[in-house]
Amino acid sequence: MSFEETYRNMKKRLGNRIPDAELRHKTELAAEINCLKQEKNALILGHNYMTPELFFSVCDYTGDSLELSRKAAKTDKDIIVFCGVEFMAETAKILSPEKTVLLPAEKAGCSLAEGITAQDVRNLKAQFPGVPVITYINTYADVKAECDLCCTSGNAAAVVKSLKSDAVIFLPDEYLARNVARETGKKIIFPSLSEPAEEYQMIGWQARCEVHELFTVQDIENVRKQFPDTVILAHPECSPDVTQAADFAGSTSAMIRYVEETSAPRYLILTECAMSDNIAAAYPEKEILRLCRRRCPHMEKITLEATLDALKYNRYVIEVPEDIRIRAFRSVERMLAIG
Ligand code: 13P
Ligand code: SF4
Repeated sequence: MSFEETYRNMKKRLGNRIPDAELRHKTELAAEINCLKQEKNALILGHNYMTPELFFSVCDYTGDSLELSRKAAKTDKDIIVFCGVEFMAETAKILSPEKTVLLPAEKAGCSLAEGITAQDVRNLKAQFPGVPVITYINTYADVKAECDLCCTSGNAAAVVKSLKSDAVIFLPDEYLARNVARETGKKIIFPSLSEPAEEYQMIGWQARCEVHELFTVQDIENVRKQFPDTVILAHPECSPDVTQAADFAGSTSAMIRYVEETSAPRYLILTECAMSDNIAAAYPEKEILRLCRRRCPHMEKITLEATLDALKYNRYVIEVPEDIRIRAFRSVERMLAIG
């Protein structure tokens, strides 16, 4: 895409939010990235939490964790630049080991991925022998390698149901696990919290997303009081009280589709706030309310400047030791096969 084309596209989407001088500067960066991308035969994958100036200008594909891992598994490009966080780039490397995978920040973590270690999983497996282990994709490769199967927020309940097992271990997000337990009608226990109960079908862990755990039912009530006709959407990393009080809960892409396919007067989207900016830019006829600016401190590190440097200097290269990759691959592949 030429500078003029990129500028027109950015102006159409973001012209009323970003001053023209800044928009021109962002367009220059985007045009340089798009040139280098072609020169280096690279693919740019952008998570839904990227800011609009990046989301709408340089990404070949945008989406949620599940959609982007499917794209990473299929590409024939030499380089994948992952505009997201480390566990996402690592998943791309697990699926496409022959590609160079770049993450535009040296460290863009995730409180869920940091919340559990491979040793924690081994300990749980020793405590509950023979019980299959599902891990949320928001974990590092060595944790995935200890597990039987992965899931994302887009398919977690389907993955749990696909295992015809009396019980499953579901790691590491406490709130996602509680939401899935409710949706599938299973009783969940948290061994680190209390003694195992007599009867249970899910065993959880207690990591949380540092962004989604901040949303409260009070937030929802306040908005409903002021704007009773607001449709409220929440990510399943929010607490079960919040997802229950919301009108819809789903993955980032599921929430985008919900807004696209419905025609409410206004929406409130309880997730990382760059996504609300993207939705507002894509659907200017819809009113998107904001509670405050709640950004993920890890996603926030991925900017147009950092993406340009990633392509220029071939950084930061994601590596996964082959023995771990092979074992992690099995759990990601089993998830992708579920559909
Ligand atoms: P999605 O898979 O729904 O995009 O979620 C990823 C994530 O990190 C949410 O905080
Ligand atoms: Fe992790 Fe939460 Fe950031 Fe998503 S929003 S990457 S779950 S810390």
